[in-house]
Amino acid sequence: MRVPLVAANWKMHKTAWEARTYLKRLLDLVPPEPGVELAVFPSFPLLPEAARALRGSPVRLGAQNVHPEPAGAYTGEVSVLQLAELGVRYVLCGHSERRKLFFEDDRFVGGKVRAVSAAGLAPILCVGETLEERKTGRAWPVVEGQLALGLEGLGSPGGLVVAYEPVWAIGTGVAAHPADAREMAARIRAWLRDRFGEGSEGVRIQYGGSVKPENAGEFLRLPELDGALVGGASLDPDAFWAIAQTARR
Ligand code: PGA
Repeated sequence: MRVPLVAANWKMHKTAWEARTYLKRLLDLVPPEPGVELAVFPSFPLLPEAARALRGSPVRLGAQNVHPEPAGAYTGEVSVLQLAELGVRYVLCGHSERRKLFFEDDRFVGGKVRAVSAAGLAPILCVGETLEERKTGRAWPVVEGQLALGLEGLGSPGGLVVAYEPVWAIGTGVAAHPADAREMAARIRAWLRDRFGEGSEGVRIQYGGSVKPENAGEFLRLPELDGALVGGASLDPDAFWAIAQTARR
C-alpha cells in the first residue's frame, strides 16, 4: 500500500516571514496522523527556517533543485549533502521549468536523480510532454525517453517518486483530463515494473499541473495515482490542505 504524497512546490515565492506564517497555519490544520504524506518545497534560503518550523511535525521538507556533483566549483549551485544536512527528504529533479528555462537535459537530470538517491534522499523525477508532443501522438515516447535517461544507472528505486506533469498543464489553469493522467500513470507503472521488477511497487506516481481543491479529487481518487505535485494552489495553506485531504485513503 503506497501512502500518497502531496507536495507543495512554492517555486520562487514567499519571503521568510511569509513562509513562517504559512507553516504555522499549515501545522494548525494538519493532524498528527494526516493519513497522507505532505511535503513543502521552499526556495533554498528558506530551508533552514522551514526545517525548524517543521521539526517534529508530520510535514516533510523538500528542495526544488540540486546539483549532481557532491562538491566543487559550481557557482550558484547546491549539493545534496548541503540539503541532507538541513533535513531535506525529497528533491525535485527535472521540473519542466528547469528543463525549459535553464536548459537542463535528460542526462543532467539523471545525474541529479542518482546523486539524491545515493545520499539516501528521495528524488522526485518530473516527466511530461508539451502540447505539441501530445497533439502529434508523441506523449508516451517523450515520457518514456525522460524515464529511461532520468533513471539511467539507478540500481534500486529506493524512495523514488515520479511526477507526471504535462508541460501544458503547469501554471495554466488547464489540468490534464483525469483519464489521460490515468493512462499515462499506468504506462509509467508498467515501465517501472519492467525496469526494476518488484522493487518498483513502492514507487509513487504523482500527477501535477493545475491541481486545485476543486479538481484534486478527480486525480487523487484514481488508484493509478499516489499523490500530486502542486504549484500555484499550494501557496495557500488552506488550499494545500484541502487538496491533500482528497488523497487520504
Ligand atoms: P501548478 O504547478 O500547480 O501551478 O500548475 C505544478 C508544478 O509546477 O509542479
